[in-house]
This record gives sequence, C-alpha cells and structure tokens, in this order.
Amino acid sequence: MNEIIFELKDVHYSYLNRYPAMCGIDMTIQRGENIAVVGANGTGKSTLLYLLDGLLFPDKGKVMAFGQELSEQSLIEEQFSHSFRSKVGLVFQNADIQLFCPSVREDISFGPLQLGIDEDEIKKRITNISGLLDIQQLLDRSPHQLSIGEKRRVAIASVLAIEPDVLLLDEPTAGLDPLTVRHIVDILLEAKSRGNTIITATHDLHIVAEMADIVYVLGRDKKIFASGNASDILSDEELLRNNNLIHIHSHKHINVIHNHSHLHLEHELGIVSP
Ligand SMILES: Nc1ncnc2c1ncn2[C@@H]1O[C@H](COP(=O)(O)OP(=O)(O)OP(=O)(O)O)[C@@H](O)[C@H]1O
Ligand SMILES: [Mg+2]
Repeated sequence: MNEIIFELKDVHYSYLNRYPAMCGIDMTIQRGENIAVVGANGTGKSTLLYLLDGLLFPDKGKVMAFGQELSEQSLIEEQFSHSFRSKVGLVFQNADIQLFCPSVREDISFGPLQLGIDEDEIKKRITNISGLLDIQQLLDRSPHQLSIGEKRRVAIASVLAIEPDVLLLDEPTAGLDPLTVRHIVDILLEAKSRGNTIITATHDLHIVAEMADIVYVLGRDKKIFASGNASDILSDEELLRNNNLIHIHSHKHINVIHNHSHLHLEHELGIVSP
C-alpha cells in the first residue's frame, strides 16, 4: 500500500517576511519515491528541503509529515520530534553549516548520539560508512580543514549514520570528482533499492536521469513550473532551456557559427544537435 510521507498544501514562505522563496507549492511524496527538484538559482529548492526537514515553517499553507503537521509546536513534542529526526536526514548544500565538531568522527557520531543509539552500534556505522565514502583517513581530522569535496562526503556520511528512511539532499554531487559522483550515485541507488525515499535538489541532470522517478521543476515565480516522470521532463528541451537547466551553446567551425543546446546529455536523451 502507498504511504504518504510528505504532503504540502499551498505552502508559502518568505524570508524575513520580505523575500519570497515559495509561493503556493502543492506536493505529495510517497514512501520509496525518488524525487528530483530542479530549477534555476533562487527558485526555492533549498527552501523546500528546509521546510521538509522542519527547519522552516510555512507562512501560509501546511507541510504534513507522516500524517502529522510539521510545525514548531509538533517538533517541540519529544516523541514526534525524536521519531521525525530518526526518519529524515538532510544533507545541506553548504557542508560548512552541517559540520561543526572538532573532528570528522565526532561529526558523524553526533546525529546517532542525539538519537540515543549506543556507542558500539555507532562505531560499527562509522566503520561501514567511512569505508563506503572513502573517508577512513579523514576521521581524526578537523572538518574545517578539508577540501570542499571531502567536506561534502563527510556531510553525507553524517546523515547516512542516522540511517534515515528519508534522505533530503541539497546538491549532493556539486564539487565532487566524477569517480566520487559515481560512488555517491551508487550509494543513493542502493538506498533507493532498500525502499528509502530520496528527495534531491540538483542542477546535475545526469543524476536526475539516473536516479529520479519524478521531477519537479521550480520556476522563477517560486511555484511548480512543471512536474512529471523523469524521462518526460528531461526530453522537453524547451522546458529545460526556459528554466536555465540547459543553455544555447555557440561555437565556431572555421567561419560558421553553430548554435545548439548544451546539455551534456545528448546521447542519453536522444537530443540531436542541429
Ligand atoms: N537567508 C535568506 N534571507 C533572505 N532571502 C533568502 C535567504 N535564503 C534564500 N533567500 C531567497 O529565497 C529564494 C529561494 O532561495 P533558495 O536558496 O531556496 O533557492 P535555490 O533554488 O536553492 O537556489 P540555488 O540553486 O542557488 O541553490 C531566493 O530568491 C533567495 O534570494
Ligand atoms: Mg539551493
């Protein structure tokens, strides 16, 4: 049976009551779905993930999570808060926000310790996850002295350590080398095959093509511009171009200038350059 994990009903949110970031979003997310949220810069992707993680609350409308309204009030309730935090993990776009402990090992342990998981189990998780993300050699280092890609791997590890059912990922592959991207996509595909729900904000259409079942395109008016299954959205070149997800690329062959859509996905999507 399908289980609704999140339901957003006419959600509006403005920062400081002045800067609109979300202007009437409706969305239903079922258990096990793999969703990509795409859109130009500033269209509200990160804001959406903060609302789903209970870090921000709507000015108008509702966010329901696991059948209960996500609000300041419901998250004060110890039982709901503990259950919500053990089920949902967010990897921030900026790893510096996420990593604040003196060592990588402590950062990865922080979430599970907060949830009362015992230390032997946490040690096992650290061994397993640091192997998966190839960060064993970083465990005793300060997170602040790592490269951007290393920080991102540690941030992902700190969320995987909670073993959440729902993963919220904000640009998880930005700044990573191709082999590490491959590795992260494999980890996420495995999480998907175990039935986890994954919601990824990204500009990386390769990972959308590979991972997502459903795509939401957020528009400049901070509303849903389009949504549908990944293959339909990714094959709509005009839609992608209008939303800054691909661009027209000019190059010169001797004296002739060619224009074509620059997507890096021409082969996969069958888009033929004129
Ligand atoms: N802390 C803030 N204070 C004021 N306005 C903000 C703040 N954070 C975001 N905004 C505004 O909210 C809107 C949505 O921002 P958000 O960060 O959610 O976009 P995004 O789609 O994640 O962008 P990007 O692709 O650049 O990560 C933007 O117009 C932005 O200027
Ligand atoms: Mg963002």
